[in-house]
This record gives sequence, structure tokens and C-alpha cells, in this order.
Amino acid sequence: MPRYLTGVQSSGQPHLGNVLGAIAPAIEFSKQPDAESFFFIADFHSLTTIKDGELRRKHTRSVAAAWLACGFDAQKNVFYRQSDLPEVTELAWYLSCFTPYPMLANAHSFKEKSDRLSDVNAGLFNYPVLMAADILLYDADFVPVGKDQKQHLEITRDIASAVNHAVGQEILKLPDALIREDVMTIPGIDGRKMSKSYKNTIDIFAPENMLKKQVMSIVTDSTPLEQPKNPDTCNVFALYKLLAAPDQIAEMRKKYEAGGYGYGHAKKELLALILEKYASARSEYTRLMNDKAELENLLRVGAEKARAVGSVILHRVRQALGF
Ligand code: TYM
Repeated sequence: MPRYLTGVQSSGQPHLGNVLGAIAPAIEFSKQPDAESFFFIADFHSLTTIKDGELRRKHTRSVAAAWLACGFDAQKNVFYRQSDLPEVTELAWYLSCFTPYPMLANAHSFKEKSDRLSDVNAGLFNYPVLMAADILLYDADFVPVGKDQKQHLEITRDIASAVNHAVGQEILKLPDALIREDVMTIPGIDGRKMSKSYKNTIDIFAPENMLKKQVMSIVTDSTPLEQPKNPDTCNVFALYKLLAAPDQIAEMRKKYEAGGYGYGHAKKELLALILEKYASARSEYTRLMNDKAELENLLRVGAEKARAVGSVILHRVRQALGF
């Protein structure tokens, strides 16, 4: 039975990029009758940036609620919080001893910030090793992610190969990234990759007035209202295309090309579509955010299921390494 595994950092409320790029595709995979899915909240990873424990716990709840609100079946699968299995940090240590320094120095996550080295903590530098441990601890076959995680998956495979080679046994399973071409990089309101760190997100679980503010501030060019517009270079259309049905997309394209249709109109249609498409997810999210006990209960059961698998693999690694 193929095992799917993926995680989302608890560094804020999940945004449209997380949902379209990873959460929704991962949930689709989890619905296959022969699939087994391990989906988790990467709260250890978010410590690299979020030092306030109360805030991190809130974001952890928010990510958990988003997974469930988007339709993940936590009973059938394995749904857990990374920090409930500190075993992962033990494996990360073993893996780090097989990870060449240049591999981490070349990681995009580090390189992006390497011009301000005083802001880089060792956790951020080692981030890909902990991510490799997340994946290798559970013998995952497939890891559904957005394109920005591709390099981390390559690092994971390289580290696993190095360990297997060193011990002369296939003790770690090499995973494959699953990156869906159509949603691999969702653009944010300024056209760059949607990301919390660029502050350009569309927060689909936010209150309606905030969501509206974000959608209305999507950057467009200054073509006057009456003139025809090119939908293929417009950020609003790029997002609309990802959510709408084919006939709705064709209709909006026609309006752009005809002229007399402003970007403000397109933004309003996009907002209405987001609110319609995520109406039930938004209300389920709000319900779950107000039911701490339900979330905690699911995560506790999930951690037990994850431990049953992870402890066997960790034992295998310890033995192979001579501990
Ligand atoms: P994170 O929390 O930054 O993002 C979670 C998932 O959302 C995807 N994503 C996007 N996809 C398309 N377009 C975007 N604009 C966009 N923004 C985010 C990410 O690619 C990711 O799949 N390191 C991971 C978390 C993690 C993990 C793991 C993932 C920790 N351990 C093990 C998989 C397996 C991260 O920071 O994702």
C-alpha cells in the first residue's frame, strides 16, 4: 500500500498557495482506496521563525483545522503534530552526521537568507535535515508538495542514499516528490510566489473583510477600464483560472478581451468565487478553531498511530548504526 506523507509548517494561517499547492492535492491522493496518508503539522520547523509558544500553538491549531476543513479524513489516516513525536529529532541527528555541509549551504531556504547570516539560526540551516527525518521516519513512498519543496526532497533522497551506502543496507526508503504541474507555484497578490514571508498571501480562512482587502489589492497594470486586457498576464485571472469551471474561465477571458471590463470587476468575481468555493471549509474551520478538545483528541490518536510506525524504523536505524 503506497504511503503518502506531507507536512505544513505552523507559521501562520494556511493560505491559498498551501491549500491549492499541497493540502488539496494531498487530500485527493489520500482518497484513493489503497492509499495510506501521514499528514502532519510541522511545528518544530516553525520554531526556526516563531519563538512565541502561545502564537505557535495557535498556528498549529489553525493548520490542523485547515487540513480537516479541507476534507482530510483523520480517522482513516494518520494525522499528527510533529512535536508529539520527538523521535524525529533523534533521527535528524543521525541524518545530520551523513549530510555534507555544502549540501545544506546550497539549500534555497538557507541561501535566500545567507546575505544576512546574523539572522540565520542553526535550526534554519538544518531545516532540510529535519524535513528528511520527517519523511524517512515513516518509510514514505510519495510526498505531495509545491515546487518550492523540490530541492528538499532531493536532499532527502541524497541523505537516505548516503546512510544506506554507509551501512551497506537499504534501511531508509527513498521517497518521490509529487508536484502537480498546474498548482506547483501559486502566485500571490503581487505576482511572486504566494508566501507568508513575502506578505502577499490570500488567507482563505480569514474573516471576509480581510480576505476582501487582500483580493482587492492584487496588483494589476494600469490599462484603462474601457480598453481590452490580456488575461494571460493578469494576476487576478491567473488565480481565477485555478478555481473556476472551464465555462466560467472562458467567459471571463471574453470579458477581458472585449474591453469595458475593469480589474475591479474581475477581483469582485474572484472574491465571490473564493467565498463560494470555500464556504463550507471556512465554516468548518471556524467551528474547529473553537473546539480545541476535538483537535487535541484527533492529534493524540494520530500521534499514537504515527509512533507505532516510526518507532520500528528508528529502531532499525539505531541498530544499523551500532547504537
Ligand atoms: P510550507 O509550510 O511552507 O508549505 C506547505 C506546503 O504548501 C506548499 N506551498 C505552495 N505550493 C504552491 N504555491 C505556493 N505559493 C505555495 N506555498 C506553499 C509547499 O510547497 C508545501 O508543500 N518544509 C515544508 C514543511 C515540511 C514538510 C515536511 C513537507 C516539513 N517537513 C515533510 C513535506 C514533507 C514547508 O515549509 O512547507
